[in-house]
Amino acid sequence: MPSKKENIENLQKKLGEVLGLERAAQKAVDELIAMKLLKSDSKNEAKEIQDEASTHEEKIQEVVNAFSEDKNIKLDTAKVEESAKETEEKANKIMKTYLGENPDASEALEFLCLAEGGEVSHYEVLQAICENFDNKKALTTVKSILKEEQKHLTQCIEMAKSVVSP
Ligand SMILES: [Fe+2]
Repeated sequence: MPSKKENIENLQKKLGEVLGLERAAQKAVDELIAMKLLKSDSKNEAKEIQDEASTHEEKIQEVVNAFSEDKNIKLDTAKVEESAKETEEKANKIMKTYLGENPDASEALEFLCLAEGGEVSHYEVLQAICENFDNKKALTTVKSILKEEQKHLTQCIEMAKSVVSP
């Protein structure tokens, strides 16, 4: 079992990672639209996902603030931010590598599937970490975001399939 110190470090790192993923997801949608890889229906749906990513970012920031103000936890917001930056950069690199030279709509949507899949798994782990702390509000927030991420993943899979279906 992790110690209290380890739990706090895990929380710091994982909150930073989900923040970074949410920021990267918002930028990715802008970039894919600018590259004209998302059109009509997919474009609108991706924009909705982007809006929700922005809301998730705000909600996670509130969770970070609450844990940093908690005297028993004193979450280090600088460390969270460091982890967020690192993750955002990594996500950006992964996108560039994945899309390669001449990306098409299928690849763009499959990249979004990859990104949403990453978010789902990170929120699953974050939820497990939050179970170690007595903070109902944080746990509820993480659970509700996880549900939306699962929905995003399904949406992206459907969009990716629609490109190749009649
Ligand atoms: Fe998402």
